[in-house]
Amino acid sequence: MTTPRHFLTLLDFSPDELQAVLARAAQMKRAHRAGTDERNFAGTVLGMIFAKSSTRTRVSFEAGMAQLGGHAMFLSPQDTQLGRGEPIEDSARVISSMVDMVMIRTFGHDIVERFARHSSVPVINALTDDYHPCQLLADMQTWIEHRGPVAGKTVCWVGDGNNMCQSYINAARQFDFELRIACPPGFEPAAELLAANRDRVQLSQDPAAAARGADLVVTDVWASMGQEAEQQQRADQFQPYQVNAQLMSHAAADALYMHCLPAHRGEEISAELMDASDTVIWDEAENRLHAQKALMEFLLLSQRP
Ligand code: CP
Ligand code: NVA
Repeated sequence: MTTPRHFLTLLDFSPDELQAVLARAAQMKRAHRAGTDERNFAGTVLGMIFAKSSTRTRVSFEAGMAQLGGHAMFLSPQDTQLGRGEPIEDSARVISSMVDMVMIRTFGHDIVERFARHSSVPVINALTDDYHPCQLLADMQTWIEHRGPVAGKTVCWVGDGNNMCQSYINAARQFDFELRIACPPGFEPAAELLAANRDRVQLSQDPAAAARGADLVVTDVWASMGQEAEQQQRADQFQPYQVNAQLMSHAAADALYMHCLPAHRGEEISAELMDASDTVIWDEAENRLHAQKALMEFLLLSQRP
């Protein structure tokens, strides 16, 4: 048995592989819109383990798998033995013996790593406390779709140094762009990740300076899933970090802004930007479907002899 490929962070794929997945995603988007029959993976099963809530991720993986001719199975810790303490390693051995691919959304990143180590089929990280690589595929697809190649461009991340911010650090490396991060003190991304990417990532506490001339401005919620108790305290500390028209006035004239959603209008992003008629945020959400179909196809083909 060959060791399966996994997608736990963007670093699991080479830059060329990531570009190939995105090119295929754009192709699949066109095919889907044209009504092409895409059922090339009949009988294929995706196990989806969700220890946290989701709208986009669940709908895109489940719809995507159906469109590819396969089936997606929703598994939550509440209804499986995962929630009653069955070891991750045992669960990985058993579940992967019955399905063709597994997608996991959970808390600690070590959980997806342990699952992957004991899985006989590809494992996809559908969000952990540390990374959200599937969202980055959709974000990069959206950026390319609207503005062309991203290499050499500048991205500004404003807000929490969370799983999305850390995925942008990996994206800066894999897609070859400059990343300027503006976070309130105490909410920076992991120091070792910053240290490993010092050549293309800068950190500050000044959103306007970070946004100056940027081609893309990105933000996310101030309190992620699992941090609900800190919501109010964070809201106070993050006030100066809202992405709004004033902040966008510092960015390049044709700059895009993105948000992985769900969003809180009037907190991390203004209602004006969320509801603007030319926002690409809805394309960004839709592209989760196309990007992940291309990702699943890549992983499933990598399993074929
Ligand atoms: N952006 C994202 O992952 O959304 P969901 O939490 O709804 O899946
Ligand atoms: N940072 C957010 C992203 C949600 C898609 C969270 O982890 O809750």
